[in-house]
Amino acid sequence: MKNVLLCVTGSIAVYKAAELANRLTKAGYNVDTVMTRSAEEFVTPLTFQTLTGNKVHTAMFELYDIDPQVEHISLGKKADVCIVAPATANIIGKIAAGIADDMVSTVIMALDHAPIYICPAMNTKMYINPIVQKNIKDLSALGYRFIESRESRLACGDVGIGAMANVEDIINTIETYLQGM
Ligand SMILES: Cc1cc2nc3c(=O)[nH]c(=O)nc-3n(C[C@H](O)[C@H](O)[C@H](O)COP(=O)(O)O)c2cc1C
Repeated sequence: MKNVLLCVTGSIAVYKAAELANRLTKAGYNVDTVMTRSAEEFVTPLTFQTLTGNKVHTAMFELYDIDPQVEHISLGKKADVCIVAPATANIIGKIAAGIADDMVSTVIMALDHAPIYICPAMNTKMYINPIVQKNIKDLSALGYRFIESRESRLACGDVGIGAMANVEDIINTIETYLQGM
């Protein structure tokens, strides 16, 4: 069974990540979810745990119950592919700057063998901010793969670029990669 590592950050598009987790699990992939503290403000880990059948990882510093493992390393080692969906301006900036100060950014920092697909989701003004665009450009040059945002009516009411790619398109991209492995 192929392993998908799903990193979820604090955007209103988190509900679409739940759909993504559901569809990937039903398609036969093992999905391990890691969430930021902000993502938990939108949807609880219980949603992802129930949809994937796996424990959801949120905190860096946890006492082990049964199986002592350094999770930010073991999760990365296990992954065949990593998806950051939705990806906030913040996580894109943190990855670009080499910051590892929570479970999501640390897992990503420790991942060296599997491709990382980033699905940006943010307000148009944030998306076109030159710093965000520079971070996307820099990360693309380093081999990070971006699944492009769409133009849409955004949750804030604005219409423009920044909406997360459709779940369908994300799944197609990931399956194309996994089937070609
Ligand atoms: C209602 C609401 C919606 C938000 N949606 C987004 C979003 O779509 N994209 C984004 O980059 N930030 C969004 N934010 C701001 C992030 O949650 C904030 O920058 C946070 O620090 C991100 O943390 P994380 O990257 O660790 O998850 C939103 C905040 C709120 C309150």
